[in-house]
Amino acid sequence: MDLKYVLFSKEDGIAWIRLNRPDKLNALNHEVFGEIGEAVAKCAADDEVRVVVLTGSDRVFAAGADIEHMSKGQIADAFTLTDASTRTQESLADLPKPTIAAISGYALGGGLELALCCDFRIASENAVVGLPEINLGIIPGGGGTQRLPRLINYSMAAEMIMTGGMVKAERAERLGILNRVVPQDQLETEVKKLAGKLMSKSSIALRAAKTAMRKGLNVSLKDGLQIEQDLFCMLFGTEDQKEGMAAFLEKRKASFKGQ
Ligand code: COA
Repeated sequence: MDLKYVLFSKEDGIAWIRLNRPDKLNALNHEVFGEIGEAVAKCAADDEVRVVVLTGSDRVFAAGADIEHMSKGQIADAFTLTDASTRTQESLADLPKPTIAAISGYALGGGLELALCCDFRIASENAVVGLPEINLGIIPGGGGTQRLPRLINYSMAAEMIMTGGMVKAERAERLGILNRVVPQDQLETEVKKLAGKLMSKSSIALRAAKTAMRKGLNVSLKDGLQIEQDLFCMLFGTEDQKEGMAAFLEKRKASFKGQ
């Protein structure tokens, strides 16, 4: 991978996708989205990657779409940007592995929208989230108007989207946007702790849980229950189900193989 705006590394089963465009506060354009998409595809194809972490720098996760770039744009340019962001965000949201956004500093506009595509959001105390697009005379174009009201209370999402106000970490945690807020110097440790917990589970059961939840969000309860039932029963064909239940009965820790 030849990446300019993203740093990619892999350690102990965790892939780190780090946004790295410091002079523009990690502002996102179609090239940055393309690079994130490449990194996500690599994570999908690599069996050694068990958990994916998307992060930025201490100062900023990402300050949103590149306003300078957008300021000169026409309708066709907006389509190019949103095509790129949608492709990348959907591939991140659909990744059949747990994903964690590790947020320090600003996660605004497209930055927050990317974080909303992750399964978990762990933030440091200096985190600030928001969807300020309304202040620019536009609306969120990377899923913000769809994913945020599905995640939190409609009225609170409406307040964020229609006033464009910024929300500090502690309040964002109370609203349910962030799973947890930790001191900045403990962010990486906390993320690794969560990743470790996830890696101790059966990867095939995690995949089934994620599929059931994600697919279930877009269908009726009846159809969602059917999806869950099918996946639940499918897991009885795995070695991990035999191992998990045997380990419980033998009063020992399960050792899952993802098979
Ligand atoms: N697009 C392009 N450039 C951006 C940017 C964005 N979304 N956000 C910040 N930058 C650039 C600034 O223009 C500035 O560049 P310069 O040094 O060449 O002037 C640099 O990053 C630093 O930003 P600055 O505003 O000076 O930092 P700050 O600490 O005072 O404020 C923010 C930080 C995040 C509050 C502020 O930059 C901001 O509001 N950004 C826009 C957020 C937004 O509206 N996002 C949604 C876009 S759809």
